[in-house]
Amino acid sequence: MNSERFPENRRGVLSRRLFLRATLATGATLLAGRAATFLAASANENASFTIGGDLPVHRLGFGAMRLTGEGIWGWPPDRANARKVLQSAVELGANLIDTADAYGPETDELLIAEALYPYPKGLVIATKGGQIRPGPNQWVPKGEPEYLKQCVDKSLKRLKLDRIDLYQLHRVDPKVPMEDSLGALKEMQSAGKIRHIGLSEVSPEQVQRARKIVPIVTVQNRYNITDRKWDNTLAYCEKEQIGFMPWAPVGGSRGVSSDALEKVAKDHGITIYQLGLAWLLHRSPVMLPIPGTSSLKHLEENMAARKIQFSPEEWKTIDALANTA
Ligand SMILES: NC(=O)c1ccc[n+]([C@@H]2O[C@H](COP(=O)([O-])OP(=O)(O)OC[C@H]3O[C@@H](n4cnc5c(N)ncnc54)[C@H](OP(=O)(O)O)[C@@H]3O)[C@@H](O)[C@H]2O)c1
Repeated sequence: MNSERFPENRRGVLSRRLFLRATLATGATLLAGRAATFLAASANENASFTIGGDLPVHRLGFGAMRLTGEGIWGWPPDRANARKVLQSAVELGANLIDTADAYGPETDELLIAEALYPYPKGLVIATKGGQIRPGPNQWVPKGEPEYLKQCVDKSLKRLKLDRIDLYQLHRVDPKVPMEDSLGALKEMQSAGKIRHIGLSEVSPEQVQRARKIVPIVTVQNRYNITDRKWDNTLAYCEKEQIGFMPWAPVGGSRGVSSDALEKVAKDHGITIYQLGLAWLLHRSPVMLPIPGTSSLKHLEENMAARKIQFSPEEWKTIDALANTA
């Protein structure tokens, strides 16, 4: 890891700032009277995960989709701020950045190169292909092999890379056999243009089917503390040591909504977003959350979540509350 880009002292500053533990106010009976504890990031033994056996990443990454215009369309309104958010994410310890050719489209990948190239050693950029954008907020799967191969070449150019560390099929196109789409990505992998391949929004059965074609190292499905529809895929990933990258980890554009969890977070002097991220990291050692934000303040808060620790008893209570949220 390049020490200039991942400075420990910056983490120290953040940690001291957030080390101010909250006292439990009224209603604290919920969690037996304890405040959240902030650990040094390095004290968390599960702080990292190795994608595909050779790409070690810190488990809390960054999702760059929000660094676009309204409707995930075009350039962000404040491009300088967007660059700063990306640079700060890396400085704060995120070395897994998620993007897609469809974000913008194209502008998100271009922005990443603009902000971070030449890339620091150890930075993993995960991009995706396989969805087209007829307009703002519109997403249409497109998985024809020739189209996907062209997508890989274009992402390589925009990201200024010789090889993409992690290329994810954004959606399985119902009109195209998965074998054909993944066959194209396998070809690009053999040609040295892709290091590893991942999937998005898939069931365990789909991952199993995909693995007959090509090794799958990550799955990116919607998942957060109040939305656990994909628990079965997470369980499969955990069993197979496949990285699970939850999208909408803090609830997407609507946020996580739960009065009970809001109260727990408040009682511990943290935000519900931080609680949601800490819960995800606690939930599974293969969990690689990629929260997105266009705000430096939110970024700092989110990155601090990897240092939040609760006792096993407290986690049980939080989990029970989350299940009823
Ligand atoms: N594979 C897929 O199909 C798929 C789909 C969607 C997204 N993704 C990926 O997953 C990443 C994350 O998903 P997402 O952006 O939809 O959801 P998210 O990370 O759960 O939520 C992002 C939203 O939450 C707000 N937010 C973030 N941190 C906050 C904080 N600490 N306090 C208050 N508000 C906060 C952001 O607003 P502010 O900008 O105001 O902070 C933004 O509107 C994306 O960047 C993208 O890389 C993948």
